[in-house]
Amino acid sequence: MIVTKTIDEFKIARKTLKGSIGFVPTMGALHKGHLSLIQKAKEENEFVVVSIFVNPTQFLEGEDLDRYPKKEEADKEICKLAGVDILFMPTSDVMYSNDELKIMAPKIRGYILEGSSRPGHFDGVLQIVMKLLNLVGADKAYFGKKDAQQLSLITQMARNYFLETSIIPCDIIRDNDGLALSSRNVYLSKEERQAALLIPRSLQRASEKISSGEFNTSKIKNSMIDLLREGVSAVEYVEIVNRDFKLIDEIEIGNTIILVAAKVGTTRLIDNLWI
Ligand code: PAF
Repeated sequence: MIVTKTIDEFKIARKTLKGSIGFVPTMGALHKGHLSLIQKAKEENEFVVVSIFVNPTQFLEGEDLDRYPKKEEADKEICKLAGVDILFMPTSDVMYSNDELKIMAPKIRGYILEGSSRPGHFDGVLQIVMKLLNLVGADKAYFGKKDAQQLSLITQMARNYFLETSIIPCDIIRDNDGLALSSRNVYLSKEERQAALLIPRSLQRASEKISSGEFNTSKIKNSMIDLLREGVSAVEYVEIVNRDFKLIDEIEIGNTIILVAAKVGTTRLIDNLWI
């Protein structure tokens, strides 16, 4: 595995890869969720590139940029064992300069749900993903469905800007207790983790309701919120949208995403279910 830190180092290493390339962009603190993206990239391509960069422009003032978990050595080891060919670990001044040209999230889809709770977040995500996709020039790039709105906006960006890289959605990976894997789970105390399990349970409840014939999204949302309120510190949103992120009144099988954002203690967690 070649570890690169600057654009020039990366470009030199990239030239040695002659064949299809799968790319997995991450912010590090790698867990089994990331590993599943890397494995899928390996299965579907001859070479795999991973980036680790905690992107400052997607964090809002007061968010956890400074305490975002960093595990550089462990991450390198995980990538090496997983068979990654190039690991790109730039610093902020490698990725950004002053007075940059900006990619902006779309005014509606980028400012609802996560974009409403975290205004400007998706501008930063799209900015860095655009840079990384252009730099890496991969055939396919892999993103988890857990960040459903991010995935949808990146897919739209790739379409709107005629990018050559195909955006590949990957399933959510959960711990045995059902909690979706996230680098932020390390912030949870034992008690908070128990409370956090209400999030996947609320999605499970929604799924059971749908299986028993309840398609009215308000009723499903209300029963999820009732369950979440039994333990989480704050329910930021529970919303049911179609794959274009438009709110829907009735569940559309094969075209629905149920989304939750909640705070447990001070930790903000998101999860979702694709129906
Ligand atoms: O999902 C993430 O880890 C980040 O938002 C991404 C896509 C690596 C951009 O910084």
